[in-house]
Order: sequence, then C-alpha cells, then structure tokens
Amino acid sequence: MEKLAIEGGKPVRSSPMPPRIMFDENEKKAVMNIIEKSMTGNQALDRYGGIEVDSYEKEFAEFFEMKYATAVSSGTAAIHSALASLNPEPTSEVITSPITDPGAVMPIIFQQCIPVFCDIDYDTLNPSPESLKERITEKTKAIIVVHLAGIPSRIDEICKIAKEHNIFVIEDCAQAHCSKYKGKYVGSFGTLSAFSLMSGKHTTSGGQGGMVLTDDEDLYWNAKRFADRGKPFNSIEPTNLCIGLNYRMTEIEAAIGRQQLKKNLKIAEKRKEIYINLVEFFKKELTAFRILEADENSEPDPWFLFVNVRKDRLNTNNQLLAQVLQAEGIPVAQKYVVPIYQQKWFTEKNTFGKSKLPWSLSDARDIEYEHCCPIAEKALDDHMTLSIHEYYETQEIYDIVEAFKKVEKFFLK
Ligand SMILES: Cc1ncc(COP(=O)(O)O)c(C=O)c1O
Repeated sequence: MEKLAIEGGKPVRSSPMPPRIMFDENEKKAVMNIIEKSMTGNQALDRYGGIEVDSYEKEFAEFFEMKYATAVSSGTAAIHSALASLNPEPTSEVITSPITDPGAVMPIIFQQCIPVFCDIDYDTLNPSPESLKERITEKTKAIIVVHLAGIPSRIDEICKIAKEHNIFVIEDCAQAHCSKYKGKYVGSFGTLSAFSLMSGKHTTSGGQGGMVLTDDEDLYWNAKRFADRGKPFNSIEPTNLCIGLNYRMTEIEAAIGRQQLKKNLKIAEKRKEIYINLVEFFKKELTAFRILEADENSEPDPWFLFVNVRKDRLNTNNQLLAQVLQAEGIPVAQKYVVPIYQQKWFTEKNTFGKSKLPWSLSDARDIEYEHCCPIAEKALDDHMTLSIHEYYETQEIYDIVEAFKKVEKFFLK
C-alpha cells in the first residue's frame, strides 16, 4: 500500500494549487481612470461624485434581467437592506437555513425580527421547501433562501409556498453569481435578492461589496433609502425619511465590479466544467466519496464543492481524512460550518447589551432551537468541502482524484 504523505510518503501533489488571479489590465485601468479624474478635481470617490456606481447597478440589473439594483458595501449589507426594505414589525419571524454565513442571519436580529430555521435537503444542503412550509406561522414575514456553494435551492417551490402564505422571498446569492434554475438565473425568482461581492466570491467589487436586486419599485426605493441613512430618495420630503445605515458602495469598488461583471459568464463556464469533470471522475473511480450534485433542473456555478463521505465504508473519521488529504496537497476542510443556532453568538444571545433582544420582546414567540434541524447537523458531519476555482486545469483535477483514490484505498473497510 502506498505510504500516505502525512506519514512521510510522497504527496500526490507537492506544488500549491494555482493562485486565483482575479484582476488584469482592465480593472487596473478602470481604477486608474477614476484616480486620475479625481486628481483633476473632476470626480469624487463617493458614488455621488461619479457615474460608476450608477452604471454598475444598471448593468448588474440588466445581467439578471431585473428592473432595479442597489449597490452596497457588503453581502451582509445587501441582506440587511433587502430585509429592511420590507419594514418588518419587531418580532416578525424570518425563516432561513441554519447552514449559511452569519452575515445572512445577523441582519434579522438587527431588524428586531426572530430567526426561525428550516431544515435542509440532504443532497444539496439547501433549505428544504417541505421543512420551510412546516415552520411558517402567522408571524412569518420573509424567507431568506441561500443557494449554497452555487447549487440552486428549489427556489420555484419555495416561491410558490411563499406566495400562498403572502410571505416575501429574499434570495441569498452570495455564493451563486451565475447559477440557473429551470433556465433562469437565481436571484431573479424572489421578491428581492442579495449578492456578496467580496473578493473571495465569483466576481468582486474590490475587497468588499454587495448588491440588492428587485423588480418592485417601492422596495427598491426602501432598500436604497435604508442603505443611505433614510435619505428621501423619490420623495418630496426635505428631510430623511427613516432610520438606515451608510452602506454605500464607492466609485472605485463599482469601477472594479463593472469589469468583473463582464467576466461572470466565463468564470461560471470554467467552474462548471471543473465541477462536471470532478463529479464524473468521483463516480467512476471512488466508492466512499461523492461530489454533491445539483438536480436536473439546475445549472450550478460552483463556489466550492461539498464532498459526501461514506463513513460506513471507511476506517477513519472526517477530521483525520481532511488532515490526510491536505498533506497530499488537496485543499479540503473537514466541515463547512456549524449550524447557526449552535454558534456562540446565537446560543448566548449576544446582541444588544444584556437585553437578549429581540427574543426578550414580549411579543416574541418562544422558539426551541436546540437540534431544530437534525438533517442539517447530520449533513454537516457527513460532508467535507473542497475548494476549486476557475484556474484549475486538467492536472489539478487529476491530482484531486488521485489523492482521493489513494486515501480511499488506504482507509477502505
Ligand atoms: C451565503 C452567504 N450570505 C451572506 C454572506 C455575507 O456576505 P459578506 O461577507 O459580503 O458580507 C456570505 C459571505 O460569505 C455568504 O456566504
């Protein structure tokens, strides 16, 4: 049996995976152009001093065939602005997945709403429409639907349920910039959608950024006002209309984002090709590992891949597997996250001082969170994550498969 790298054997891959180079001369020129203009006094770097943010919003909305876009400073700000645009009453409930980024849940708390978690589909780790339906109450205002790792949720079923119950759908497309469901981009199904444009995502507006999309004009103005301290946009009022924050995107960020948007399709195409190849090779060559696949309605734009581990077929655990695969030169992690409701900030209700708001509000429904999503807990224990990006070529795919084969052979029962 071939010696594992972790025990001093030769690693399958000894060179690092290729770097992800996101920018070229186009982004450089776009940024320099703005700096040069501002050096002549012709442009400020704030969005009101130029045309970049306005143009980026227009182009982003056009790409997704949506009417309105609001550019903001992060994905968290996008979720927050989308939710705030609905102006929910305190203690309204917002259903979401426990497998997501805290940035998709903390805005619920800031709006003094109560998060409710629905369980997930084991095969995608995305919110399950069936579980979600069970968790709707008369207090439910909205559902935040994540498309995890770029694999679409069953968004049409979720939108149908939401419509029947008069609930708003916010799509969280932070990890799915160019994924399609039934031929249509995710981000164009819900009442609103939110994107993260931080630098690790498929495309970026520089270091951080976000975008809110909607076809609803009123909600568009609400989101735009919220993202700029309640400014009276589209109003004859002379003073600010409501509370909000300053979540504005800057001109430099938007100039980068506009160049990146042009690369969206190409990046998606390459990532999809890598994902399809890996899915096929894993099926052909491995029995204890499987790459999670989207259903036949979906065209994913993968952000990373979930690898299902058949623990019953292996004499080891995911922690050791991850260490062994990393030593073979493969970028895996033992586990994606722990469910939101098991994270310290959540279990201890560390919100505003000692108040435990919003749960301490008298109208808040008492919700039992402990083990409220058993499938999510099991799915997180059963899956490792594998990083990929558009610079992976045949060699990288080959090395990943060879490393998994070597490790499987070693631990197979
Ligand atoms: C699913 C999801 N939602 C929201 C966010 C928050 O985005 P940001 O980090 O841009 O605030 C992220 C960030 O990774 C995410 O993955």
